Amino acid sequence: MNNNTFVHKYLTPLIDKNDVCVDMTAGNGNDTLFLCRLSKKVYAFDISKEAIEKTRERTRECDNLILIRDSHVNVDRYVKEKVRLFLFNLGYLPKAASYSVTRAEDSLSALKKAFELLEKDGYIVITFYLGHPGGKDEYYLLKRYIENKKITVQETYRQDKSDSPITMILR
Ligand SMILES: C[S@@+](CC[C@H](N)C(=O)[O-])C[C@H]1O[C@@H](n2cnc3c(N)ncnc32)[C@H](O)[C@@H]1O
Repeated sequence: MNNNTFVHKYLTPLIDKNDVCVDMTAGNGNDTLFLCRLSKKVYAFDISKEAIEKTRERTRECDNLILIRDSHVNVDRYVKEKVRLFLFNLGYLPKAASYSVTRAEDSLSALKKAFELLEKDGYIVITFYLGHPGGKDEYYLLKRYIENKKITVQETYRQDKSDSPITMILR
């Protein structure tokens, strides 16, 4: 099972139509569509114009989506309510015309803001990709922060032990 399949399976029983969710990296819109179908309201961020267009196209059926072309670092400018789930699918959009990759410092800043907006029993799910330049640095920076702050890691998922993606479920 790949990481995206794992995340969707894991979250399905945990999210319902009372919940507000935030997709911090909309990309092709696969995760955004998944969250829109499950929850009451979804905010989805991406800095890439192409990603926003793809997500808009992919979620045409959804009337509960607020799609935002801005960095997830600015999440607190747009989200003024408590959130059940933040989903970070880091890295870059494969096969996209222009390359926009998540950056370690921005991801850390967005993670801190996500914790401020998180409901008491909410979830933050992060998938890290280690194979691209900067991917490992991003993983270790956030991992260090999570360990230092003694944040609960409810589950870690990885398909194998090489450079395959790592998913963490945080509480
Ligand atoms: C791996 S893709 C996301 C895949 C997506 N969740 C899906 O289901 O298709 C990572 C995305 O993060 C976006 N991104 C990079 N830096 C960002 C930032 N600071 N704020 C928001 N999105 C960012 C990229 O443009 C890219 O579309």
